[in-house]
Amino acid sequence: MADMGAMKASTHRFCVAPMMDWTDRHCRFFHRLLSRHARLYTEMLTVPAVLHGKREQLLGFDPREHPVALQLGGSDPAGLAQAARIGEDWGYNEINLNVGCPSERVQTGSFGACLMAEPELVASCVGAMRGAVQVPVTVKCRIGVDDQDSEADLDRFIDTIADAGCDTFIVHARKAWLKGLSPKENREVPPLDYARVARLKARRPELTIVLNGGIGSLDDAERHLDTFDGVMLGRAAYQMPWMLAGVDRRIFGDDSREIDRGDVLRALAPYIENHAARGGRPYNVLRHILGLYHGQPRARAFRRLLSEQGPRATTGGELIRAVLALVDERKMPAAAE
Ligand SMILES: Cc1cc2nc3c(=O)[nH]c(=O)nc-3n(C[C@H](O)[C@H](O)[C@H](O)COP(=O)(O)O)c2cc1C
Repeated sequence: MADMGAMKASTHRFCVAPMMDWTDRHCRFFHRLLSRHARLYTEMLTVPAVLHGKREQLLGFDPREHPVALQLGGSDPAGLAQAARIGEDWGYNEINLNVGCPSERVQTGSFGACLMAEPELVASCVGAMRGAVQVPVTVKCRIGVDDQDSEADLDRFIDTIADAGCDTFIVHARKAWLKGLSPKENREVPPLDYARVARLKARRPELTIVLNGGIGSLDDAERHLDTFDGVMLGRAAYQMPWMLAGVDRRIFGDDSREIDRGDVLRALAPYIENHAARGGRPYNVLRHILGLYHGQPRARAFRRLLSEQGPRATTGGELIRAVLALVDERKMPAAAE
């Protein structure tokens, strides 16, 4: 376990990244069953979606998901301030501004990673958002964009936004190429540069700097916590979610709970039943758990059963029982129906 005495108390010691189409409310509920302390992020929501969309559908979440941060995409200070206020009213613990997404759609709206080149505008956005809410306003960014990627560019970006009162930055430790690379390539091709982010932390030690990008295990995470205030994991946490079951003990020093994968499935069953009873598809939830047995002997059978029968399931509980019969020696208690 990491040395708790040396740890700077940070709400952001371990975060699960915002991921479009992945970290929806069902995914976050599942992740929360695995870790009580990890900080969870929504998918990015654009300002127009928050202001004019179906709010219950977009913003609704289960209170058991706390602590959970709402990520916003936008570049209009007034609109962002309004959306942040709405997010706070819905109960989110933090509002995060996306300054890292490189997709074409996002560039047309002039937000996401292209804002790395406009620190003054980002500072205005952050200032307006901070003026509208009590909860922390944070920024998730890259180390650079296109040709604007010198160390001085990143320093100026961070300093300008810190001057607007933002003290927490999640830094994806690679630059984004806005032309020529797809969003997926932009998560793989530009090289990771952890040292650059470490120099930023050394230069501005009072800021909370959370490292993101390519962190693949809790061993890696613990190592980075010697340098950074927190780590944010995206793909590894989603694809190998059982990793999250070690977070409370190893990262937060809380060993008050021992769980196994079967416990997680049993705890998820009533949630799925409830979702189905309200007209939802069980597979909306089940699709996020396909990696739960990653690396285990029955991983393939688990995945196959869920992905073949999951999309057709109408109640979910029955399928969970079948899955438990397959993978778990302790069967699920008889259903109450
Ligand atoms: C499917 C997918 C969707 C993503 N959507 C978002 C998003 O909505 N907002 C955001 O800031 N980053 C998004 N990202 C980027 C991640 O938050 C993270 O910065 C990136 O995956 C690097 O971390 P990792 O190497 O731990 O996955 C997405 C990544 C993936 C794989």
